[in-house]
Amino acid sequence: MTAVGIDGIEIWTGKLSLDLPEEFAPVMDDDPEKYTKGLGLFKSSFPDAYEDIVTMGANAAHRLMERKGIDPKEVGRIDVATESAFDKSKPASTYIAGALEQVLDGVFTHANKGERKFACISGTQALNDAVNWIAAGRNRGRGAIVITTDTALYERGDPGEATQGAGAVAMYVNKDPSIVEISMEQGFGSVDETDFLKPNQQFPSVDGKRSMQVYLARMREALEDFESETGGSHPDDYRFIPFHTPFPNMVRKAAVLGYRHTIRDTELEDTLAEQIGRQPRSEEYDDREAFSEDIQEYMDALSETDMYREWYERAIKPTVDISSRVGNWYTSSVHLARLSALIHANRKGIDLAGETLLVGSYGSGAQAEIHEELVVEGWEDEIDGDAVDTLLNVRHPITFEEYERVHDQHNHSKEKVQEPFTEPDGEFVFDGWGPMNERQYTFIE
Ligand code: HMG
Repeated sequence: MTAVGIDGIEIWTGKLSLDLPEEFAPVMDDDPEKYTKGLGLFKSSFPDAYEDIVTMGANAAHRLMERKGIDPKEVGRIDVATESAFDKSKPASTYIAGALEQVLDGVFTHANKGERKFACISGTQALNDAVNWIAAGRNRGRGAIVITTDTALYERGDPGEATQGAGAVAMYVNKDPSIVEISMEQGFGSVDETDFLKPNQQFPSVDGKRSMQVYLARMREALEDFESETGGSHPDDYRFIPFHTPFPNMVRKAAVLGYRHTIRDTELEDTLAEQIGRQPRSEEYDDREAFSEDIQEYMDALSETDMYREWYERAIKPTVDISSRVGNWYTSSVHLARLSALIHANRKGIDLAGETLLVGSYGSGAQAEIHEELVVEGWEDEIDGDAVDTLLNVRHPITFEEYERVHDQHNHSKEKVQEPFTEPDGEFVFDGWGPMNERQYTFIE
């Protein structure tokens, strides 16, 4: 089987940032620690007046193609995953390809373009589509550009407002990749749910608390499905476990469930039994409520053990660093989690070649998917944490009052009045509407 996976990654962040504990919490009359401790979030990225899903996606893809010297002729596929689309027919990938053609030497005439939709998980679906296309040998030696891009904004006053974000990730998918090979084994958990949706509306209808339960339930089903194919999983099998991260503490909740599940009937459960007993088994209970109480008590005790904490610090914590600084980027979120772990490993000099990642993606509506990725030799040459930090550090900080104005600017039903806060520099910008109501883009040198 040909090794196929991710050969290059670049990101683009919305150019504004809102400090949640300093700017947002006081106006909402919240304790700042609700954000920093309760959700695990410090800042959100926001799009400036001239940014949208196309500018952010094109800017990420442009960085990727320039850095890796990718010629448009080498690209046989451009897929965009987004849940912030502004057109029901013309995919964002055509706008992005058109924008890129303004500045690149070459065109994407023979590249297959599309747009994937399934809430946040569509980013991973687009990645898997690209992998399958190459593994099937239909790529004629070419690679695929997969772009995840969203303006993840909620209605003003919705509790989701705390978890907003905006940005894009561009990945080059190819055979013999330079970062990770993606496994062919996958597990799915997929059920018709109405936890978070946008039925022909710009901002989501969300049942926030239930969405968290749905996330955990679908993730468990995906893990069980994955294990039925691979024959099981053990916490020590994986160096890092990047999850979809709507906010870091969602991952904290998923992690303890995952750990409990994967230590069951292993030597780790036996070792821990001396401190906290063995896990309650549902088959030993007639009363569901008693089982729920006991299992919750076990998990509370488990999350306090040194063994769990060491595992969390090693395998999970490094994955949520970028998320804590940018908020939820929807389709990009799990791809930021992988990148976050790779940057951490690179900075710490961790030798990851030959190590395995377990990647847990999720999209409301609802579906989870789990697969493994094998880190390949030379991965560290592709990972530049300083470049990511530079992008994040030069974001323009906004006050709450400025945040209100920029939120209105991106609200399709309101009059657009906001002047940009930043000067575009070497990037694509939204440049007004054309005669068919199409959005138009220009590259500003
Ligand atoms: P909320 O009502 O604003 O917050 O909603 P809360 O009162 O539940 O507080 C949040 C946490 O902070 C709680 O922790 C509090 O205890 C804690 P928990 O009890 O859950 O462990 N807290 C504090 N901690 C320390 N000091 C304090 C303090 N005060 C409170 N002083 C909610 C939070 C996440 C529900 C809301 O922001 C929301 O609706 N978000 C949008 C939905 C969402 O993100 N869901 C996540 C799962 S679904 C998903 O991931 C899919 C998604 O990405 C979309 C897609 O797939 O396309 C969203």
